[in-house]
This record gives sequence, C-alpha cells and structure tokens, in this order.
Amino acid sequence: MTTFTKLGAGETPLIEVDARKKLSKIDPMTYGGFTEHMGRCIYGGIYDPGSPLSDEQGFHKDVVSALQELEIPVVRYPGGNFVATYHWAEGVGPRDQRPKRPELAWLGVESNQFGTDEFMAWLDVLSAGRQDGTRVEPYLCLNMGTGTLDEALAWVEYCNGTRDTYWANKRRENGHPEPYRVKYWALGNEIWGPWQVEQMTQEDYAKKAAQWAKALRLLDPDLVLILCGEDGTGASSWDHYVLDRCVGVVDMHSIHIYTADGGDHVKNATAPLSAERAIEMTGALIDLARVRNKVPASKPPTKICFDEWNVWDPVRAPGEQGAEEAYTLSDALAVAVWLNVFVRQSRYIGMANIAQTVNVISPLMTSPDGITKQATWWPLLLFSRYMRGWTVACHVTAGAYDGPTNPEWLQGTLEHGAPWLDVSASVDEEGMVSLVVVNISETDDCVVDLKGVGQEVTAFKVSGDNVKVTNVAGEEKVKLTEEKWDGKGKYTFSKHSITMLRWAGA
Ligand code: AHR
Repeated sequence: MTTFTKLGAGETPLIEVDARKKLSKIDPMTYGGFTEHMGRCIYGGIYDPGSPLSDEQGFHKDVVSALQELEIPVVRYPGGNFVATYHWAEGVGPRDQRPKRPELAWLGVESNQFGTDEFMAWLDVLSAGRQDGTRVEPYLCLNMGTGTLDEALAWVEYCNGTRDTYWANKRRENGHPEPYRVKYWALGNEIWGPWQVEQMTQEDYAKKAAQWAKALRLLDPDLVLILCGEDGTGASSWDHYVLDRCVGVVDMHSIHIYTADGGDHVKNATAPLSAERAIEMTGALIDLARVRNKVPASKPPTKICFDEWNVWDPVRAPGEQGAEEAYTLSDALAVAVWLNVFVRQSRYIGMANIAQTVNVISPLMTSPDGITKQATWWPLLLFSRYMRGWTVACHVTAGAYDGPTNPEWLQGTLEHGAPWLDVSASVDEEGMVSLVVVNISETDDCVVDLKGVGQEVTAFKVSGDNVKVTNVAGEEKVKLTEEKWDGKGKYTFSKHSITMLRWAGA
C-alpha cells in the first residue's frame, strides 16, 4: 500500500518508508508466466527441436537459463484463446500419431508435437534451476469452448490420477509413472469474449462453471479452481454475476487487462493504474459475493488470479501475426508501474501471469542466433528477484499528472491525479527492504527527500536515452545499472527511469 499527497507550493518531494509496518504478504505466485500455443511462443520459442540452441528434448537452452533467472513460480498453459478448441488427448502419446488440426483462435495449424507431457518435462528443466528447491508449478486452462466435462475430467485424471484407471494408466504408458500433481486449473478463458469459439452468456457460464467445479472436485478434492472473470472493472456485469453464482465453489477469480498507448508516453506509463482500480473493484465484488452467499469466514480469502497482464497494442502487434511487440523504454516504465500495482495491492493477488513468456508480447525474444532481453525484461527481473515478502507502508509527496489518461475513465478515479513518482516498497524474509520508484516524467529529474532509508544502499536503475528506445536486434539501449549510495541527503530519480533502492532493514 502506498498513500499519496500532492506536492504543495514550495515543498520538496518526499518518500517515507516504514518497513516495520508489514501490510500484506506478496504471494510468490505474483511473478508467474504464461505460455500459449500462439505465434512463436511454444514452437520456435520454448520448443525448437533440431536447433543447435536446443537440448536433447528440444527445449531452447538460452530460454531456460533466462527464465531461471526470473525464478518463475508458475506457468499457465496452453492458452489463452487457443484453449477453446484444444483437445489435450491429441497432444499426448507417440508423436507420429498425433493429429494436425486447424487452430481457430490464431488461424494456424496445431501440430500437437508439444503437449502436456512436453510441458511438464519443460517445467522440470526450469525447476532444476530453482535456488529454493521448489518446483515451477503447472497451471492448466480447461477447454470450455468445444471441450466437454468428460475431457476435462480425463485431463485431471491423466495428470493427477494415482489409481488403476484408464487415463492414469495412459500417462504411465507414455512413460510417466508418477502423477504430475497439477493443482491449479482454470475454468476456461475469456469465455465472455466475442472472439471466443463458443462464447457464452454470464448465465450459461456461471451454471456450467459451478457444475464443472463440482465434478472436478469429486475426482480431485485438492484442486485450486480459478473462475473466468473479465477485466474486473465492473464495466460489464460479468465479474459481478459469475462471482455471485460461483464464489462458494472456486478458489480464485481470474481477470485480464492489457494496457498501451504507443502514441503518448505518459498515457502509456500511467495506464496500469487502471488495473489497480480494477483490482480494488474486484476485491469489493468478491467480498460482496461472499457476503451475499454467506460464505463462511473459515473459507480462505478468494484471491484474484491476474492471469494475463502486460503492455500490448493488438493493432501494433496483431495476434494472428504472432503479437511480437518491440518494447520501448516507455513500455518498461509501464511494466514497472504494473508490478508496483501488484505489490501495492498484494492483499488481493493470489497469482499473476505476465502474458506471455517467450516471443509473444514478451520480454524475451528468440532468433536463430540466440535470445534478446527486451526493455521490459529489466523491471520484471528486479521485481521477481527482490520484491518479495511483504508490502510495507509508504507515503509519497510528489507532483502529479492530471491530463487525459488511457482508459479515459482512469483520471476521474484518481483523487490527486497520477503521481509522477509511482512507488511501492517491500521487506523480505531476510529483512532486506526494497523501494521501487518509477519517475514517469519524460523531461524532469526529481530530487527527493527520503525517510526510513538505510545507510548502505544498493541502487539499481533501468533507463535509456529517451522513452522510445528499444532493445531489439541485440542492441541494449535500455540498460540495468547498479551503484552504491550512503543513504544521506536527497536522492535524484532521473527522468524516465526505474530505480530500486535496497538496504538492510533495522
Ligand atoms: O495473450 C494473448 C491473448 O490475449 C490470449 O490468448 C487471450 O486470452 C487474450 O485475449
């Protein structure tokens, strides 16, 4: 939680951090990924058999090492819109017997050469690099478009079955004696969207989701089930309606938002504040649904699963053409604001998944020669590495932007405008405090008084010459630098930069 007051005449900007005031836990699942059968995410991204850059299983080695740096805790799969016509059983078993199918979300052909077993094997490879010995959790999305409940049950049985049953035995036949223990399952994806194969009304979806949840839990009571929400803003009645009908039978509620404004840097960088409002509104809708349905307080909080978020302009980078964005420094600032939002609102967030993990609207790109870390890679790396533990109390006194926003409604919901300094702070298990300050201004450095900061401070900074620079074609124009600061006097947050100050708390 960060509170804000607008700078008065003659005042110096001020950031006050109180790391003793731990407000809410930051769920490690906040730094999740998402891999969809779309463009070059799976084929040519994480899976590229025959490439000299791949291992014996066909997994791109540089991609694995890069993602291991991020310590990704969970990966959502296989879509996205793709899942609405995906029949998982066609993607397991001998590869030469897997059918090729027309793919109706992105209008390609699905070869089924990469399926559930390959995904799990890839996660094993990723998990091998984890420092804490935990595994990267799979999060599977069920086909509630052309898929049936029988197919969904069979998939859960294939992944998790331990008894002598047909699909559990199929998994064993396919060389996987141990169950995959997949805990996280989404009840469909963006079912409300007119672009979906088998779009549904809120009434039809809520009824079906509740029925599916009941059946899935009969098969495996330990599943964490995620309801398909919309954007959480309440602009349509979908989130309210489906929560009201299903809050008692699901564990999390999914929402998706993409932000962008390629033409205007300030609108682009402040747009993620609309997601902050959406999180607060969804939190209220969840509470409302729990109250109305008399959900007992003993049922754990129903968290938000923000399982698609990022900067994406689908006109600039159309989905049917692979959605390959060339991210600018402005986009990196926007991603840092997105991540500040998740930290500030950590009390509501059970999981978040950047869409997507490789090539498709991604901070990480592959080419025949290797990988490129885009501008948006740096904020993601800093946050996933250091913004862990608890959100702590923080107050910002700074100037604010009060011009037009994208979406337009955003400015009307901001009491004092959008602060030029977007800030969040955390303290981790070891007592290390991290303060992230995004100076959104394209033109002005900001000299700030800081209270509550330690004396031996590491300052990480991400910036570039101007807000339009990118890291494509192997040129690193958006860089991460690191220096030491003694914590004395004022600190200058340079224009269009992301700064993380990090010190040992008292
Ligand atoms: O991430 C790209 C697409 O955006 C996903 O397939 C879909 O769920 C969303 O509309």
